[in-house]
Amino acid sequence: MQTTVFSSEQDIARTAGEIFCGFARRKPKAVFGFATGSTPLGAYSYMVSEYRAGRTSFSQIKTFNLDEYCGLPKDHQNSFFAFMQQNLFSQTDIVAENIHFLDGTAADVRKECERYDAKINAAGGIDVQLLGIGCNGHIGFNEPGNYFSEGSFKVKLTANTMEENSVYFDDAEMPGYALTMGIGSIFRARKIVLIALGEQKAQAINEMLRGKITPRCPASILKLHDNVSVFLDETAASLVRDIV
Ligand code: F6R
Repeated sequence: MQTTVFSSEQDIARTAGEIFCGFARRKPKAVFGFATGSTPLGAYSYMVSEYRAGRTSFSQIKTFNLDEYCGLPKDHQNSFFAFMQQNLFSQTDIVAENIHFLDGTAADVRKECERYDAKINAAGGIDVQLLGIGCNGHIGFNEPGNYFSEGSFKVKLTANTMEENSVYFDDAEMPGYALTMGIGSIFRARKIVLIALGEQKAQAINEMLRGKITPRCPASILKLHDNVSVFLDETAASLVRDIV
C-alpha cells in the first residue's frame, strides 16, 4: 500500500481524478469501478472538468459501481445510480450502455448478483477501482463480519452505516439492506485508489494500516494487494502520522 497525505482535498481530487483520466487516455476501453458518497465527489468533478476541457473522453469506458440500495429503483432520487448520474455520468460522454449497476429492485437477488459478477468478468475485470471507507472500515458495503465475501451479495447495513448515510435521506426512509460487490471482486481490480477525508475516518484508517488483516476491518485486506494508493487528508491521517 502506498499511502500519501495531502494538505488539501483539492490535491486529492486532482490526483485521484487524474489516475482515472490517465487510464482513459492510455486505454480508452478501460473498466472503471466507482464508489458513491461524499468522498469521491472531488475526483468526479475533476473528471468532468477534464472532459469539458476536451482533454479526456470516456466514450468507450465501462463502469461498475460498488453498490446499490435494496428497494430503490434507478430513478429514485436517493439511488446510487441517481447519484452517479448527477455527479458524473450525465456530465461526461460515458455511454449509458457501458454503465453497470446492481439492481436493488431485482426479485431474485442471487441471480442478480451472479449476473453482475459475470458482467464484471466478461468485461475482463476492473482496471481501476475507486473506494471510500466507512468509519467502521467497510469498503463497498462489505460491513465488518466473520469472513471476507467473494462475489456480490445482499447485506444488512449496520446501525452506524445507517446513521452515517441517513443524512442523504430527507424525504424517504433509508433502506436497511443493499446489494454490494464482494471483497473478492474489489480485490481483483488491478489498481485500487482509496480516499479518506476527515477526522471521522481516522480510526478506520488507523485500523486498516496498523491492525491485523481481519474481516472485522474489511479494508484491512487491501494490505495484501500489490497496487493500492491510499490518499488521506491531514485529519484522516491524524492517527497514523508516525507510519506514513
Ligand atoms: C459507497 C460505498 C461506501 C462509501 C463509504 C464512505 O458506494 O461503497 O463504502 O465509500 O461509506 O462514504 P462517504 O464517502 O460518504 O464518507
